[in-house]
Amino acid sequence: MHPTYEIEVRLIDTRVSIVDRENPDPTVIAEAAGLLRSGELVAFPTETVYGLGADAFDPDAVSKIYEAKGRPSTNPLIVHVADADAARFLTSDWPIEADLLADRFWPGPLSLVLPRADSVPGIVSAGKPTVALRVPSHPVALALLRAAGVPVAAPSANRSEQLSPTTAGHVLEGLDGLIPLILDGGATTGGIESTVLALTANGAVLLRPGLITPAEIEECIGEKVTISHHLAARLEELASPGQMARHYAPRARLSIEQDPYPAIKRMIDAGDTVGWLAIDVPDQDMIASLTSASPEHGALSAGKLILVKMPVGVGEYSALLYARLHDLDRLGVTRIVVQQVPDSEEWLAVRDRLGRAAYRE
Ligand code: TXA
Ligand code: MG
Repeated sequence: MHPTYEIEVRLIDTRVSIVDRENPDPTVIAEAAGLLRSGELVAFPTETVYGLGADAFDPDAVSKIYEAKGRPSTNPLIVHVADADAARFLTSDWPIEADLLADRFWPGPLSLVLPRADSVPGIVSAGKPTVALRVPSHPVALALLRAAGVPVAAPSANRSEQLSPTTAGHVLEGLDGLIPLILDGGATTGGIESTVLALTANGAVLLRPGLITPAEIEECIGEKVTISHHLAARLEELASPGQMARHYAPRARLSIEQDPYPAIKRMIDAGDTVGWLAIDVPDQDMIASLTSASPEHGALSAGKLILVKMPVGVGEYSALLYARLHDLDRLGVTRIVVQQVPDSEEWLAVRDRLGRAAYRE
């Protein structure tokens, strides 16, 4: 006897609407806001990565996010609002630190975790008594939030465990056929996800490093930021990858190398096609010894090696990281080698994301 299978196919026509970043067309924004208000999902650009939004007050709409992403129901979402007053309304306690941080960093890439008001459905926070809140600075995101008039729960607009999207094309690659609309406001400028900070009775706790650093937060609130236990353990694992949760990962296996050359040589000898993210430009002899072709300026493809020159500055590096990893996946490399990035605090978020991408079971 043959086993029977139940296959659920949920194919929606996914439209991509181009919107001007600085001057989003009110008609397009109104249409997107209407979809959100009627319980549908809309992907939209923020200054960090693209988000997949739903009306945070509508539990059925929020459940569609988990479904489209294939996201475990235990992983809470960030709620996006147009200003700090709207954020405060969604909390049951708003400490002075929240005011200081909101004044200084909103709109911007900081998510604050605070006690959740009863008006926010539990599904948004995966049942936790808290809620993560953020006012994004991207003009398209702000226009959408204002037009929708509801708080918008939005994780990054990728399938669970995949790379976050920094362009509408990346969103389409992961979610085509699963959501009705993507607002295309061009490539995002931040490139990695917001800093997530919990304001607890025991002080400020960093849950996810991001574009805003612990030092900037400490300077703003005048108190020490604790690195959460999980995060600290994960960062320690970076030295010897082990238990780190895999996340933000390209399809190709990624490794981080202090000295990339011997590792790449081994991979190429073993028949791999290797993508190499380098901050320091390797010298021509080195490349020539890895490949038969001679390199040209910038990024080059020489048989089995694709060399990608990454910027030296952390801001430019972060902005490009996911886009370059997406590119290498699209080119079909079998291995990605990333040159180790600096050890300083401003590179904390990049090290965190690379460490998660490198993790293998
Ligand atoms: O930049 C960003 O934050 C992007 C854009 C779209 O805003 N969003 C984003 O969302 O990265 P997501 O779902 O991919 O990541 C949200 C992170 C997760 O690590 C989640 O566990 C944490 O925030 N988080 C959300 N709510 C939380 C809560 N109540 N308590 C603790 N952590 C929370
Ligand atoms: Mg995500």
